Amino acid sequence: MRRAQQNRSIWAALALPLVAVGAVAAALPSCTSAKTEDPPSLTGDALLDPNNCLPCHADQFREWAGSMHAYSSEDPVFLAMNKRMQRETNGAAGTLCVGCHAPMAVRLGKTTDGLNLGELPASMRGVTCFFCHATDAVEGTHNNPLRLATDDAMRGGIGDPIKAPHRATYSALHDRESMSSATMCGACHDVVTQPGAHVERTFDEWNASLYAKPGQLACGKCHMEGRDGLAAKVDGAPARRVHDHSMAAVDVALTPFSETEAQRAGVQKLLDATLLTKLCVKQSPAGVLAEVTLDNAFAGHKFPSGAAQDRRAWLELIAYRGGMQVFSTGVVPDKKAVTSIVDPNLWVLRDKIFGADDKETHLFWQAARFESELLPAAVTADPKDPAFFHSVTKTFTLPVPPPDRVTMRVRMRPVDFDLLDDLVATNDLDPQVLDRVPTYDLGGSIREWTNAGGFRCIE
Ligand code: HEC
Ligand code: HEC
Ligand code: HEC
Ligand code: HEC
Ligand code: HEC
Repeated sequence: MRRAQQNRSIWAALALPLVAVGAVAAALPSCTSAKTEDPPSLTGDALLDPNNCLPCHADQFREWAGSMHAYSSEDPVFLAMNKRMQRETNGAAGTLCVGCHAPMAVRLGKTTDGLNLGELPASMRGVTCFFCHATDAVEGTHNNPLRLATDDAMRGGIGDPIKAPHRATYSALHDRESMSSATMCGACHDVVTQPGAHVERTFDEWNASLYAKPGQLACGKCHMEGRDGLAAKVDGAPARRVHDHSMAAVDVALTPFSETEAQRAGVQKLLDATLLTKLCVKQSPAGVLAEVTLDNAFAGHKFPSGAAQDRRAWLELIAYRGGMQVFSTGVVPDKKAVTSIVDPNLWVLRDKIFGADDKETHLFWQAARFESELLPAAVTADPKDPAFFHSVTKTFTLPVPPPDRVTMRVRMRPVDFDLLDDLVATNDLDPQVLDRVPTYDLGGSIREWTNAGGFRCIE
């Protein structure tokens, strides 16, 4: 009981919206009392609640509690879209969205439409510890076909777990050194809509890339960094490799949430190291040209990936002469949708989705087909193979006389304002959320050319 009280004070101070403070089960075994002959005491319903993992797995808990997996059914954009979808389809879309965003609530029959998520306990919301760690088979490639075991064992990458209050067992699906672990992540990171459009294709893209080849990199090698530590903070626990559960990539919490600073820093760090870029300013018979090359050198799938129908990455390029702007593209004001600006040169990386009537939409449950302009992933490590080069170059004609300075950067929004404004217009989304949508600059893409060094490439 003493331990439960300690935890109550730590977590009360953080005021986690997700965590029912004090919910740590009173019956929970103390971390030191597990004797070899004891039968597992953490079983059944108690395994469903992430709060019950906190006493022994505090690092995994803290990282997960700030992750998009924990946020996936708190996300106001998700809630707004699901609400609107249920209304506009008269409920016909059912559990499509919650099946991935709050899978335990669906599997246990606690929701049929996701409209009651706010009334459900923490154990039913988001992608929980239990959901990932009880998975024992992957029965498809999209829309969450994961099978949950009923043996109360927590599966992970540790081959020789010590005695725990729950059953613990090794699973290749949970071992980032095993290529099959990508099928577990991929089963949710791949969405096909009811009208048949493959709108999110991260797993598919990874499968077609270099990274899916034997000995290459499963999702966890890039998204769950390893470090030395204790898998469980209990007496006698051996040194292990433990793995980052924050899984920062591009989305961040848009309402007060746990670990937001750390999550945002994690996103920026990964984004800064995603692309290799080059800016060449040249004289040609056609005039002065700016040639911009973007190379998706480090993402294990296309860039951007996933929810690319809502996400925007774009190039901003500005040329100056005597301190005056003489050319610009991709200059997007704050809180304005990228696609709302009139700009014939705009280079934007995104998916476009179209409904059954072939009109463009941004309500992705309506999508019947998509068009896509994303940066491709590496397909071979052999520099002699012509496919080795997968960067994309675009050329912009600059006015004469030539500029004396040209700057560029790639910018990115996890979700853009065309969708958000539309959700506000139908009263599904609180307009305050719009103030919290970040626009990132990718560190590796910030380049500046000046005429002091003559026509040349900056990389
Ligand atoms: C009282 C302590 C305690 C609690 C509470 C606890 N665990 Fe564990 N867990 C352990 C110990 C001990 C191990 C083994 C660690 C080792 O061998 O280094 C372990 C191992 C694991 C593993 C790794 C299994 C493997 O073989 O790779 C997972 C996954 C896991 N626990 C998940 C959970 C989840 C999810 C919860 C909450 C529902 C939870 N644990 C609650 C003590 C605990
Ligand atoms: C049950 C389905 C499910 C499984 C299994 C799953 N994810 Fe996710 N994942 C989600 C959902 C849903 C979100 C997004 C939540 C949101 O932003 O609203 C997400 C978000 C993420 C993000 C952040 C994306 C962003 O845009 O910031 C990363 C990275 C990620 N997952 C990686 C993984 C990896 C790696 C694995 C396997 C170890 C995995 N996921 C397994 C459903 C799943
Ligand atoms: C999106 C799926 C996912 C979620 C959600 C998740 N885990 Fe994990 N977890 C993994 C994977 C995959 C590994 C194994 C990584 C490896 O060994 O390659 C892992 C490893 C672990 C381990 C073994 C030690 C380590 O760090 O490798 C523990 C303990 C653990 N998780 C506990 C938890 C707890 C507690 C929660 C919830 C607070 C949780 N996990 C949520 C996927 C998940
Ligand atoms: C070689 C390393 C690598 C591998 C392998 C990899 N990723 Fe990524 N992933 C990245 C990088 C780099 C980014 C882009 C930077 C960012 O979004 O912050 C990214 C971004 C993402 C995003 C956010 C989408 C976006 O547009 O940026 C998700 C979701 C994701 N990855 C999931 C996965 C899943 C699921 C797998 C396995 C099927 C996987 N990743 C494999 C490196 C990797
Ligand atoms: C197959 C599992 C799956 C299904 C089904 C699914 N999602 Fe997601 N969703 C994800 C994953 C995984 C991510 C994170 C991917 C990324 O960030 O690229 C995500 C991210 C999101 C995001 C945050 C990024 C963004 O676009 O703003 C929203 C909002 C969202 N989903 C809404 C929905 C809605 C609404 C539905 C139903 C129409 C739905 N999702 C159906 C898995 C799913």
